[in-house]
Amino acid sequence: MTPDQRRPYIAGNWKMFKTAGQAREYAQKLLARLPMGNGVELAICPPFTALAATLEGLGGSEVKVLAQNMHQDAEGAYTGEVSAPMLVELGVHGTLLGHSERRQYFNETDRALQDKVPAALEAGLEPMLCVGETEEEREAGETQRKLRHQVQEALERVPEERLADVVIAYEPIWAIGTGHVATPEMAQDAIGFIRALVGDRSKDAADRVRVLYGGSVKPGNAAEILAQPDIDGALVGGASLDPDGLAEIVKAAAALVK
Ligand code: PGA
Repeated sequence: MTPDQRRPYIAGNWKMFKTAGQAREYAQKLLARLPMGNGVELAICPPFTALAATLEGLGGSEVKVLAQNMHQDAEGAYTGEVSAPMLVELGVHGTLLGHSERRQYFNETDRALQDKVPAALEAGLEPMLCVGETEEEREAGETQRKLRHQVQEALERVPEERLADVVIAYEPIWAIGTGHVATPEMAQDAIGFIRALVGDRSKDAADRVRVLYGGSVKPGNAAEILAQPDIDGALVGGASLDPDGLAEIVKAAAALVK
């Protein structure tokens, strides 16, 4: 992790796990296990129904709470959707956008993300944009083409001066929930490429934007991934469901803070 201005960032994505009651319990345990003043930015992404309880449980701490999705419009006839102002009112700090499970199962498109990313920023939410290739695309040598398309489309309407406020998570689909973590070299290559894509828009934003790795990150493999120069943190799914696991990953990141 370099340079100094990029604070390491760990985010735990609970996906469709945990009720509000379980979230409260988790928050208590997590706060008891986190090393204080560790220099690492930490966020939890609970389901919508557990956002308020998580915020309440983490109240007074520095741990941020992010939603897992958001609609691009402020309001409208969109049954089942939730908008940025609704999240802001709760006190939510940001939202995942374009997670591969949303792309794969719920038809999330790059076109919609082109509206969602700037809409989140304008509302005062931190967008964490997820991108990544399938196994077939990697085998066909299409990884860079896919990443270029996803990153350029999603950031197209983000003004240059806000680019560094987006957090990008590189999550190769073949590594998500499979136990097949990318090698540190593979993750570094892809993330260096993503940073260069941001650099095509703004050199300054490329230096400042945080790019995380996600896909089977565990306490046992976090350190070697986080040690890569362009990797600024991790988006953690399964291992974040246990507060002990997440706290261990935060410690691994903290150990790398100079
Ligand atoms: P995983 O999920 O850590 O369980 O592989 C990562 C993610 O989907 O964000």
